[in-house]
Amino acid sequence: MDKIKIIGGKPLNGKVEVSGAKNAALPILISSLLADGPCRFSRVPRLQDIRTTLKLLGHLGVSVNAHLDQNQVELHADHIHTLDAPYDLVKTMRASVVVLGPLLARFGRAKVSLPGGCAIGARPIGFHLAGLEKLGAEIQLEGGYVIASAKRLRGNRVAFEFPSVGATENLLMASVLAEGETILENCAKEPEVVDLAKTLKAMGAQIEGEGTETIHVQGKTSLVGCDHEIMGDRIEAGTFLAAGFASGGNVRVDGLNPDYIESLLVKFEEAGAKITRGDGFIGLQSLGRPKAVDMTTQPYPGFPTDMQAQFMAVMAVAEGASLISETIFENRFMHVSELARLGADIAIRGNTAIVKGQKSLRGAPIMATDLRASASLIIAGLCAQGETVIDRIYHLDRGYERVEEKIQQLGGSIERVR
Ligand code: EPZ
Repeated sequence: MDKIKIIGGKPLNGKVEVSGAKNAALPILISSLLADGPCRFSRVPRLQDIRTTLKLLGHLGVSVNAHLDQNQVELHADHIHTLDAPYDLVKTMRASVVVLGPLLARFGRAKVSLPGGCAIGARPIGFHLAGLEKLGAEIQLEGGYVIASAKRLRGNRVAFEFPSVGATENLLMASVLAEGETILENCAKEPEVVDLAKTLKAMGAQIEGEGTETIHVQGKTSLVGCDHEIMGDRIEAGTFLAAGFASGGNVRVDGLNPDYIESLLVKFEEAGAKITRGDGFIGLQSLGRPKAVDMTTQPYPGFPTDMQAQFMAVMAVAEGASLISETIFENRFMHVSELARLGADIAIRGNTAIVKGQKSLRGAPIMATDLRASASLIIAGLCAQGETVIDRIYHLDRGYERVEEKIQQLGGSIERVR
């Protein structure tokens, strides 16, 4: 089992280019199920979750031509021979549940394993299923599987109980081939949803309002293949900026629109960092130890839950105490006990963590528990005195491409040990 070894205490300086966004690439690769022709995607990040998605698409019968070393993938869903997404594939990556919409829309049937929970929460999919039923799908739950069928989906009005990213993506992909107009209300506004909509429009879908809470879709009878470049990963960018800030350095991240993490940049500025918002890049210069600031995670454009753990690592070495509230997932504080092993002083009260900043942390052996928690532990290890060894970093490889190389590029002492 691989581990990551870090010798902390050195400021990170320099610049790094972010990879394509995992949370845009996953639904976009799956959207190829909707198209009659071949789809070519570029800037696809080389990640475990991407390989899992390609395996699932291959299992369904999609012809997969992947050159992940060049971040290129070509997909053609012209010989789908099964409509079953089995448990062993779905359980490792819950985002697979968004195959439901496309399979139903194009083939009228789907059998997809219920994803099950994960470390950060139960993560049910009721909003997805309620929406698909509104479009006329028959849904049964049997033996841990969702069995869905529809002669042809019919457009309708669907109001989400919560602006769920996955439910918005599933219904967007179902509605583009449904009969007539679909109005999706209380949608997720995340940039990754907008990138998916852009891809669907390149296939000939008729969509308006993506990125706002109401999306209008006019269903088509078929869609063509397309070329699309995946957007830059804003969470990866935020992670490197947080590492630069916590370590007292000066970091620039290239390859993304700064607007997409404005709520994070505002918090870094409140905490005393100097931020430069460029055309396609963001610069962060720390002007001394971070100041403690409070933060609450919210749906986009609020502070992203996927940056909560990384932000907590910065607050762990800040001047003063900060209150960090997690409102999106019910169990996303697993990094707290591992940060405490490095000397962080954090108390949890319900969905709020009280973080009392320490002048410095001390390296220790720790363990990753989920994807973004692993990133938080790397940030803490980089600013702790001495050696930190992080175990179970397979969590990290799900969402960060060549992370140790990129941190080495910024001057960090980090290496992967077998
Ligand atoms: C997406 O997950 C992301 N994953 C998550 O990133 C991200 O944290 C999350 O959106 C929120 O931004 C991908 O895009 C692959 P939700 P998703 O549906 O779609 C509840 C990462 O680290 N809910 O917006 O699963 C749910 O339990 C990952 O890259 C229901 O109750 O998130 C959660 O509490 C982690 N019923 C909340 O809504 C439903 O039917 C938000 O979930 C659907 C969701």
